[in-house]
Order: sequence, then structure tokens, then C-alpha cells
Amino acid sequence: MIYKNLLSSINNRVNIISINRPDKLNALNIETFKELDKAINLAVSNSEIRVIIITGFGKKAFIAGADIKEFANFTKDKGHELSHLGHKILSNTIENCPKPIIAAINGYALGGGLEIAMACHIRVTSSKAKMGLPETSLGLIPGYGGTQRLARLIGKGRALEMILSARMINADEALNYGLVNYKVLQEELIPFSVELANKIILNSPNAIKNAIKSVNAYNQPDSEGFNIEMKEFSSCFETEDFIKGTKAFLNKEKPEFN
Ligand code: CAA
Repeated sequence: MIYKNLLSSINNRVNIISINRPDKLNALNIETFKELDKAINLAVSNSEIRVIIITGFGKKAFIAGADIKEFANFTKDKGHELSHLGHKILSNTIENCPKPIIAAINGYALGGGLEIAMACHIRVTSSKAKMGLPETSLGLIPGYGGTQRLARLIGKGRALEMILSARMINADEALNYGLVNYKVLQEELIPFSVELANKIILNSPNAIKNAIKSVNAYNQPDSEGFNIEMKEFSSCFETEDFIKGTKAFLNKEKPEFN
């Protein structure tokens, strides 16, 4: 399968999918997002594949978020549609995927990028990566389940601090917070993630599928929380702050909110 914005390779039962828009720091436009959805679904239906690794092409970014240029002119309704698509892919395709998905975080994992990593089953970070949910600096909030999954992974207090301050954390902090499972050197990121995949491959695929389903049930995403997030995310669109925040980013300026 040839993709416009993804690279996908299968080696010894491991499928590595790389987001490939390095000149935009692998920002996720809708086309790329749909390709990612397709690639994971293909991996699920391919019996040769046992584990999926998602990473970003290049050394700088895993995924620097949803594509700000693409959504800057969206209405509230379009914002809701975007959030709905994100929730569907992150919950149905990634979090509830019957095959394990490892996020190999090779660089910036911001906004929708960190939200994707958090929907994966295991996270390995390069020591150089930076992570954050900086949406409030754009007059927006996380819209792909980040308000819920971040609080679940690291606790409400730390999640609120990261979201309200729009602060990026480094790999050490992410490890300390329990946001990632492992921190390794950049050059070891893929070999380490593949080694982890190989340990998983030794175990029963049927038991793994059932384990994912059961652990997800323990940590059941609160659909009410997700619905509130979708509503609050879309209500930011068209506001003065949203227009100011996204315009400032695209003009490489800092917004001044009143
Ligand atoms: N959307 C669109 N384009 C992006 C992008 C994004 N999220 N992140 C980076 N880019 C583009 C930049 O516009 C730039 O493109 P041009 O060369 O055409 O100008 C290119 O990638 C390189 O980026 P920078 O010049 O900004 O690189 P830098 O090294 O100076 O800064 C950075 C790196 C700190 C990651 C900075 O790019 C940045 O802050 N990016 C935006 C991060 C962000 O706010 N993400 C959240 C998006 S909203 C979201 O994801 C909503 C949701 O929950 C669904």
C-alpha cells in the first residue's frame, strides 16, 4: 500500500508506521489522519502482523499536533466534526486495537500528537523528545481525548498544570510522571521498541487481544468526559481568542490574550 504521508514497513511480524510530513513537523492533517486509520486497520486484518509501532519520520518530531493551518478557518460545526473524527480513530482504531500498538516518540509529541501516543498501549520516548498539550496557547483545548487520557495517566493535578500552562515537558519528566514507559537514546528508540514488540510476540495473540480489552475496561474512557471535551473543543472555534491564537502561530508571533 502506498500512502501520501505515511511510510509503512513490515519486518518479522512488526509493522512500523511512520508519519511522514517532516517539513510540517509531522502535523496531522485530515488526509494523514485517515491514512493512519487505514494503515492500522490493514495491520489488524493482516495475520502476518502481530505488533504495530507508530513513530514520526525524521529526528525532530513524532507529531506536532493537528494541522493548525488546516483548521484555523473552521466553524464550530467543523471543529466538532474534527474532534469527532479524532475521538473515533483514537478510541476505535488505536486504543481498542486488538493488536498492541507502541508509540515510539522520536521528537515533539504535541497536542493531537501526544493524544495519539496516549491512546497507544505502550509509550517509549527518545531522551530528546518533548511532550505537551499546548492548545490553550491557541485559544483551544485538546480535542482528541487528551483532557481525559492525560488525567488518567498522570493524575488530575499534573494534567491540569500541563494543559493550563501549555508547557512542554522533557523525557525525564514524562518518565517520572508515568506518561511514558521507557526513555532511551534517540538511536535506540526503534531497536528498543522492536525488542519490546518481540517480547510481546512470544505470547498468545488471543490472550493479548483479551488483555487489551480487559485493561481498557478497567480504565474505561468516560464517554461523558469525552462528550464534554468534544463540546468544549468545538465551542472554542470562531471565538476571538481562537482566531487570535491560530493567526499568531501561523504568523510566527506570540498571541496576547486579554
Ligand atoms: N500545524 C501545522 N503546521 C505546523 C504545526 C502544526 N501543529 N507544527 C509545526 N508546523 C509547521 C510550522 O508552521 C512550520 O511550517 P513552515 O516552515 O511552513 O512555516 C514547520 O512546521 C516547522 O515548524 P516551526 O518553524 O514552528 O519549528 P520550530 O522548531 O521553531 O518550533 C514547535 C517547533 C515548538 C513544535 C512549533 O512548531 C509549534 O509550537 N508547533 C505547534 C504545536 C501545537 O500547538 N500543537 C497543537 C496543535 S492543536 C491540536 O493538536 C488540537 C487537538 O487536540 C486536536
